[in-house]
Amino acid sequence: MTATPNEFDPVNIAQKSEPEAQMYRAEQAAKDPMQSVLADNPEIYFVPPKRSHEWGQWEYKAGAYYDTTTGDKHPFWRHQSLPRPSKDIARLRSDFVLWGYCMIADALSDTQVASVLQRVLAQAEGERLAGIAQKTPSGQNINCCINKGRCFEGLIEQDPAWMQGGPLIEQLVTEALGQNWISTSLIASIALKGGVPQALHQDQDIALDCRSPLTINLLTAITAIDDGNGGTLVIPGSHKVLSAALRDQRPVGKLPPAINLDAPAGTTIITDGRLLHSTGINHTDTPRVVMLNGMQHPLIRQQENWMLSVRPEVLERASPKLLQRMGYQATNAAQTNEGHGFGARGLAGEAAGATVEFRLAMDQGAYVRVGELGPDSTADELNTAFTLRKVVAKARAGGRSAPVGIGGTKANP
Ligand SMILES: [Fe+2]
Repeated sequence: MTATPNEFDPVNIAQKSEPEAQMYRAEQAAKDPMQSVLADNPEIYFVPPKRSHEWGQWEYKAGAYYDTTTGDKHPFWRHQSLPRPSKDIARLRSDFVLWGYCMIADALSDTQVASVLQRVLAQAEGERLAGIAQKTPSGQNINCCINKGRCFEGLIEQDPAWMQGGPLIEQLVTEALGQNWISTSLIASIALKGGVPQALHQDQDIALDCRSPLTINLLTAITAIDDGNGGTLVIPGSHKVLSAALRDQRPVGKLPPAINLDAPAGTTIITDGRLLHSTGINHTDTPRVVMLNGMQHPLIRQQENWMLSVRPEVLERASPKLLQRMGYQATNAAQTNEGHGFGARGLAGEAAGATVEFRLAMDQGAYVRVGELGPDSTADELNTAFTLRKVVAKARAGGRSAPVGIGGTKANP
C-alpha cells in the first residue's frame, strides 16, 4: 500500500499555514469596516443586553447614536433634503443612490395595512401563548412569516393585491440588484416598550467595497413610525462612506449622526444593504410593527431556509414568481437539484429550473434520488422511477428544452 504523501498530513499543513504565510490575508482583514467605524466614532456603538432578565435595565447614554430624532428636527440634518415618502420614481431613484434609502408612499393601502397588522398582532400573541415567541432585545420577532398568513405570501411576491406599490418596488429592486434577485426572509419586527435599541450594523456582510448593493431590505411600516416609537435608526449616506473607505483602504472617519426614520403606516422604505441602521427605541405603550423583507443577489445564501421550512400547502399554491423568490428556481449558477436547472436562466416559471417538485416528493416520502449506478446495475436499478425523471419530463412537457447534462443519457425516458 502506498503511503499518503506527507504534504496532505493535516499536521504538516497546519505547520505551513502560519497567518503570515496565508494568501489574501491583508484583503480579508480589510473587509470589515466596523473596526474603523468604532475607532473613529466611539459614541456610536452600543451593545444591547441580550438576556431576557436584563430587559429594560440598560442605561440610556445621552449622545449615543440612539439619542436622536427625525431628520426634519435634527439640527445636523434639518436643512438637508433627506428622503421623504414619495411615489415619484425619479425621486426614489435619486434618494436611494444618494442617501442609501428611499421611501415609497402608500406602498400598502389602508386596507392592506390593516390586514397585515391584524395578522401580525394575532400571530405574536399566539406565539407567546405557545411559548415559542422569539424575544429580541427590541421586543419580539415573527420569523418565517410565509407560513403564517396569505398576506405575507403577497408581500414577498409584491403582489399588488397585497401590496399596491409592488410593481414600482420591483422595478427599483431590479435596478439595484439586477435580474433574478431572491428574498432572504420575511420577518415581522415588533418593538416594544422596555426594549433596547439594536446595534448599528450593515445587513450586507460581504463585498462591502462594492459600488452597488448586493442586498437590500424592504422595511414596510405597518404602524406609523417616528422618533417616539422606535422608528428605524439610519445614518443617511453611510452606504457610500463605508464602501469608499474600504475601496481606498483608509479609515472611515467621523460619521454624521443617526436619525429616526418617520413615515406613515403603509410606507415601504428600501434600504441599501450597506447602510448603517438599527431598530430604535419604542417609548410608547403601543407595539411598533415593521415588516422586514430582505432581497438579495441570487448567489448569496438566504437567511430563511425556505427549502425546508415552507409549509407544503403554501408551496402547492405558490405562483412561479413566489417560488422563484424563495429560491425554488434553479439557475445555471445556483441551487440546481440533482443537476436539474443547469442551463436555466432563473426566470420565474421557467420549467427548466423549477425545483419545487423535489421538495413536494420529499414531503410525501416519495423522493427517489439517483444513487450509484454502473455497467453492472440491474435493469430494475436502471429503470428506477427516479424523481429526477419525472421532473425533467414535466419540464419538457412544459415546452422547454431539457437542462444541460440531463438529456441524452441511456436511461432517460
Ligand atoms: Fe438590519
